[in-house]
Amino acid sequence: MSTVATATVNPLRVGLHTERRPEPFVMVIFGAAGDLSHRKLAPALYNLFVDGWLPHNFAVVGLARAGLSREAFQREWKESVARYSRRPLDEGIWNRFAESMYYIAGDFTDPDAYRRLADTLQTVDQERETDGNRLFYLATPPAFYPVVAAGLGAQGLNRGARENSWVRIIVEKPFGRDLASAQELNRQLLEVFHESQVFRIDHYLGKETVQNILVFRFANGIFEPLWNRQYIDHVQITVAETLGVEGRGSYYEGAGALRDIVQNHMLQLLTLIAMEPPVTFEADSVRNEKVKVLKAIRPFSTRDVMEYTVRAQYEAGLIDGVPVPGYLDEPNVASDSRTETFTALRLLIDNWRWAGVPFYLRTGKRLAKRVTEIAIQFKKVPHRFFGQTESQDLDPNLLTLKIQPDEGIALRFGAKVPGPTVRVRTVNMNFLYGTSFAVDPPEAYERLLLDAMIGDSTLFTRRDEVETAWALVTSILNGWQRAKGPLATYEAGSWGPEEADRLIERDGFTWRRL
Ligand code: BG6
Repeated sequence: MSTVATATVNPLRVGLHTERRPEPFVMVIFGAAGDLSHRKLAPALYNLFVDGWLPHNFAVVGLARAGLSREAFQREWKESVARYSRRPLDEGIWNRFAESMYYIAGDFTDPDAYRRLADTLQTVDQERETDGNRLFYLATPPAFYPVVAAGLGAQGLNRGARENSWVRIIVEKPFGRDLASAQELNRQLLEVFHESQVFRIDHYLGKETVQNILVFRFANGIFEPLWNRQYIDHVQITVAETLGVEGRGSYYEGAGALRDIVQNHMLQLLTLIAMEPPVTFEADSVRNEKVKVLKAIRPFSTRDVMEYTVRAQYEAGLIDGVPVPGYLDEPNVASDSRTETFTALRLLIDNWRWAGVPFYLRTGKRLAKRVTEIAIQFKKVPHRFFGQTESQDLDPNLLTLKIQPDEGIALRFGAKVPGPTVRVRTVNMNFLYGTSFAVDPPEAYERLLLDAMIGDSTLFTRRDEVETAWALVTSILNGWQRAKGPLATYEAGSWGPEEADRLIERDGFTWRRL
């Protein structure tokens, strides 16, 4: 071992980099002029390039309706990188990156666009030596997913251009709007591509703190023995946003909080918390265990929907002291809309590990604070021999996995207050990512794009996983429809409606104050 190398290693960075470089390839982005491409994909690709993760032989082909020249496309993406990248734009690096960018103006429904794409890909393969490997990205409105897949299939672009080359397709959310539409979309995609080629993205799985749930559980010996109904009292998962619908009114009207956040991000968090240890850390091993959890969640009858779910919509209020309009006054929202911007649920997992442990989920837009966290509350001690007079009413132990924005893990426990008498007070043991690792974590899209480039689908959703999640969510949607689910209201900047408090208080708990 070289002493020079040893001396220069920063111990805080050990283990942060592993060698995972993709083979040469072309990434084709459908919808390259759209919002997602500008805000997320361009900055993610730029940062992967800066970090040296992209192979030398690499190209991006943007395809969108906008009649842009190649130069105009490069210019637009440059502006987006300057605006949204976690790192400042470096002119020299950008110029090298931009050399790899091509653009095709085309309509997704026009077969000629796919013919021109096929020709461009041949040229790019020659110019950039990309070996016929292709990564397609569907950053289009969802109605075009089957259209684009069929267009690619018609040109034979679903197969590698050479004998050993690979083709993969990344599909954005929303993946369907209920079980039937998700099944239909799967059928349409799988007519053209094999399941192993399809990468259904859920950006939550690209978050460092979300991946750390598995590491926390399965790389540490002390928590797993407690991770079950014997010791855990209940679990609360919160995804709170201060943002409203941010100009996405027309999308959100057809979605609502249950489809937008619970079906994907929150059920993903739940599966990672509740799954059994997988046999290996390989894609199917992990996903098999996640599917088992989803299958074990008790479906909702109409009565359960009335008792164990809440839906609500925000009214005007204050966010950080600034007045904001109510949902009904947002652009592209119907004035009599009944779309929920908040939902709270109680779920039960009917299996050996979790029988009887309630999981409470709440999510909403325009809440008091932006915070995503999972709180695992342990059971109370069986007997308190310190006596009521000497100690305050002791809170049970609580483990909090803080997903964002203050990434970390906290453990709450009782400690003796210094002094001659035995008084107990609740204190926290805190781990903070920023302090322990001293690095700026990559954006979720960077990690996920890199995984798709390498062909690792562990952090992408499998067909049965997405359908099982939709089956559960559809049972709630149907219940809401049958029962004409009441819609509560809450003030923007609050923690949601009183109905959500009642949902959890009925079981003797309260939501965490965040
Ligand atoms: C998206 C939803 O999937 O996730 C948005 O469509 C939401 O409505 C967003 O704002 C939240 O993501 P994050 O990473 O900011 O928590």
